[in-house]
Amino acid sequence: MKERVLTGYRPTGKLHLGHWFGNLQNMLALQDEYEAFYFVADWHALTSEWQNPADISRYTEEMVLDWVAAGLDPDKCVIYRQSDIPEVAELLLYFSMVTPMSWLERTPSYKEQQQQIGDKDLSNVGFFTYPALQAADIVAIEATRVPVGEDQLPHIELAREIVRRFNGTYKAGKRGLVEPKALLAKVGDETMGARVPGTDGRKMSKSYGNAIFINDSPDEIRKKAMGFMTDPARKQLTDPGNPDVCPLHQVYKLVAESLKIEKWEECCRAAACGCVPHKKEFAEDIISYLADFQKRRTALEARPDYAREVLEAGAAKARPIAQATVARCRELVGL
Ligand code: TRP
Repeated sequence: MKERVLTGYRPTGKLHLGHWFGNLQNMLALQDEYEAFYFVADWHALTSEWQNPADISRYTEEMVLDWVAAGLDPDKCVIYRQSDIPEVAELLLYFSMVTPMSWLERTPSYKEQQQQIGDKDLSNVGFFTYPALQAADIVAIEATRVPVGEDQLPHIELAREIVRRFNGTYKAGKRGLVEPKALLAKVGDETMGARVPGTDGRKMSKSYGNAIFINDSPDEIRKKAMGFMTDPARKQLTDPGNPDVCPLHQVYKLVAESLKIEKWEECCRAAACGCVPHKKEFAEDIISYLADFQKRRTALEARPDYAREVLEAGAAKARPIAQATVARCRELVGL
């Protein structure tokens, strides 16, 4: 029997190459090896966007189209929307009893996000319980594996602690809740879990304004490519460059053929070519790399009900599992 994986993403914006290589490629691989559950975490989006929730449902549907166009197959994996599974909210309620406030206060992401996201009011209870809601997502579906990046590890650890405390309090010899484990991106495959730099060399992120979005038009990609940072030590054409520290080249290596990658590396180290032609080829290679995806994405856009159909079918598969888990919780608690 296949193990069950689950992961979710907040529908707060468009997907970029950082998501594409950091998460999506991993999700594609996992749908074959595991019983995969992928959900759009619209309640998690609401914890920070509660004052301005207008875009959440649009981004939710766009995320579904992106996922399917990228190759997630709704017949192989379960694609659903968090808020279509109200049992998750009930499970959060039970978790909120067994979770000491100090566990949530010490979650690193809690303090970091509160400091970093200055323009949003995060001093609400919903944001405070963010990791406990995440635990409810995982446990409701009885997922044993959660593919995450390093930054999310404390959340998985917390989910495990919550489950242990719940089971310790209520299980008493019966079958308890399932404790999940993290699943780190595969080692040895550069494209998985890759840290993708943006146009300014920092980690690609919508909030840094340095992202190439997977639905950018060819002209947008060309424009961003021309402004992409290269080896900062290479000031003149006659200076030899170091492709290993060139942000543009790190992204280039993810999309181009190996022969071309080697060609640019040699050429750069020997100061035999400039960055401008590399930027031009980078743009064209990204455009053709994304072409098939964008074609499928455009075709799906022409079907106005498609995303909703996928989400409904997914909810029909996910919800009975969550219902069974919550029914067991009630029994364990003794209500
Ligand atoms: N916390 C994740 C993020 O910020 C989203 C998420 C919500 C999630 N629930 C989850 C991830 C459950 C994995 C498992 O992107």
